[in-house]
Order: sequence, then structure tokens, then C-alpha cells
Amino acid sequence: MPQNSFKAGILGTGSFLPENRLTNADLEKMVDTSDEWIVSRTGIRERRIADASMTTSYMATEAAKKALIDANISAKDIDLIIIATVVPDMNFPSTACIVQANIGADNAAAFDIEVGCSGFIYGLSIAKQFIENGTYKNILVVAADTLSKITNWEDRNTCVLFGDGAGAAIVGPVENGYGILDTYIGADGKGGKHLYMPAGGSRMPASEDSVKNKLHTIHMEGQEVFKFAVKVMNTATIEILDKCGLKPDDIDIFIPHQANIRIIEAGMKRLKLTNEKVFINLDKYGNMSAASVAVALDEASKEGMVKKDNIILMVAFGAGLTWGSTVIKWNK
Ligand code: ACO
Repeated sequence: MPQNSFKAGILGTGSFLPENRLTNADLEKMVDTSDEWIVSRTGIRERRIADASMTTSYMATEAAKKALIDANISAKDIDLIIIATVVPDMNFPSTACIVQANIGADNAAAFDIEVGCSGFIYGLSIAKQFIENGTYKNILVVAADTLSKITNWEDRNTCVLFGDGAGAAIVGPVENGYGILDTYIGADGKGGKHLYMPAGGSRMPASEDSVKNKLHTIHMEGQEVFKFAVKVMNTATIEILDKCGLKPDDIDIFIPHQANIRIIEAGMKRLKLTNEKVFINLDKYGNMSAASVAVALDEASKEGMVKKDNIILMVAFGAGLTWGSTVIKWNK
């Protein structure tokens, strides 16, 4: 195929959610909280939680298998696997290599990216470059996180927010004019201190004290992340619309990171978007980190909300701090 006669687009999607549901009523028995507080402050009603034996690679593999079926592509045709996660199975090997073995994608290169909740959009951005410069044809991008494994279940400030899940997309060449029209990614490392896991890396290797002091869990200054999120959802959305020569009115479907309904509503208000244009599933799943927008895209597609020719805008923010946005003209 000659250069510039095609764009990178999404050939298929898939997702996986653990069966086990943790409701706000369940959390009321674990920490000093209430259904009323959680729903009014976050919009979350329940979330899915992986069993003790369920790994990030297991969820990623299940989502990947569904995406391969949806795209009607064999695992042998995958050239590259990118997994976005902050809860890999192990520090090494990468979760991408584990998934490669699980699905039998013998011809693929594989690596992980660690971008917090923006990981799926970073993954799409990388995949787009490799496809449009002709290096690869089919790329599997999976966003998968088991945040429940790094949650402090005694900290009501964080434990009510998160859930587990995985979403996958097969990215490949599509007709010019369709597909991932553009992506915009960014980071502000100075804000990293607001959302992090202190122990387990080279700065603070695991020790008796690190475990006793629950330093292998998410530490977050919620209000700082909230302020950042509201601001960056706006700037990242405007930036990607400008890059694509579009206006807020041109958006058919808005898929924001599913962290907090108040953050989503602030974005909707600024963009003057009506409810029918916005996909929301955080009431059912909570914040699944990088998996949030990936699962949302799969569900929006499978539920028929997304149709051929629709302009989809996805935007996410997360640990790093990072952000990413993309506009896709749906080709399926
Ligand atoms: N139940 C009851 N009360 C609670 C709970 C709870 N679960 N959690 C906190 N509170 C209390 C606080 O202790 C505080 O009490 P105080 O006034 O007596 O001190 C009060 O509620 C208000 O706390 P705030 O932190 O001001 O509550 P806020 O309205 O900011 O909501 C929240 C907190 C939901 C965390 C919000 O700040 C938020 O959504 N932040 C963004 C988080 C986010 O989006 N993270 C994304 C990245 S995650 C990732 O990348 C893995």
C-alpha cells in the first residue's frame, strides 16, 4: 500500500471485567463511608474486583482474544503488542510478553507502557505512528489494570474509587479519511507527587516496614488530582479538536476517562455536550485506570452507540501526571 493512502484505525475491540461486584453497600461495611457520599461525590455505585488469583495478564489476554475475533484477525498476524498498565504481573518480564505467549502472537514484538489512566490513548498514539510509517500492519493495544491489588482497603479516600478491568483494540490500516485522525499526549512530572505508589521500586524496595506501612498502595491527593483533571480535560480536548480542524459541535460521541462524574460533567458543560453524546459507565465499574476509556470504547461500539462515520473524541488523564486525547472517525 503506498504511503498516505491509508490511516491507522481500529479494526476490532474487546473487553474483560471480573464477575465479582463490590457495591457501595459492601464498602459501608469496610470503611467509614456511605452510598450517599460515594454517589454524590463520584457517581460510582459498584466496581468489579479480580479474585486473588486473577492477574492483569489474564484480563488483558481475555480482552485481546475478543478484539482479535471482532477484527477477524489471527494472533499470528499481530506485529506488535503494547500493554498499558500500572499493575503489571511482575516488574519483569513485561505483561505484554506474557500476553504474547498466552495468545500465540509469535510474530509480534511486545512491550509495556506505564502512563496511568492515559495509557490507552498513549498506546493508540504509538500504534498509529508504527502503522502510518509502514513499519507494522496490525498492532494489539491493551489497557489493563488490577488496581484492587494496590489499593489500601482501609483508606476511604481512595478505596471507593477504583475497579479492575481490561480493554483491547486491534489497530491497523483503514481507508484514508477514517480512523485515528490525530492524537495529543502530554505529561507534567512535577505533579507526580499527587498520585503515586511509594514502595516497590528502586527508591524504596520492598521491606517489612514498607509492607507494614502500606506503602505498596495508591497514595493520592484527591483534590489536587481533581483540579488538574478538570483543567486538562478541557485543554486536551480543545488541543485535539484544533489539531483535527474540528469544533465541539462536530463531536458525535465523547468518551472521557471514567474517574469522577463531576469531572466529566465539568467537561460536558464547557463543551456544551448533551447526555446522548457522552458515554458513561463509571457507575458500574469505577475508575479502572487505563482500562476505563478502552472498555468504554468497546461497550459504546458493541451497544451500537458508535456508528460508521461518527466522530469520537476520547480524553484521559492520570498518574505521571499525564494526559492524552484522540479523535477517531469510526470506520466499522
Ligand atoms: N466516604 C466518606 N467521606 C469521605 C470519603 C469517603 N469515601 N473520602 C473522603 N471523605 C471525606 C474526607 O475525609 C473529607 O472530610 P473532612 O472534610 O472531614 O476532612 C471530606 O470527605 C471531603 O473530602 P475531599 O477530599 O474534599 O472530597 P472531594 O469532594 O474532593 O472528593 C475525590 C474526593 C472523590 C477523591 C475527588 O477529589 C476526586 O475525584 N479526585 C480525583 C481523583 C482522580 O480522578 N484520580 C484519577 C487518577 S487515578 C489513577 O491514575 C490510578
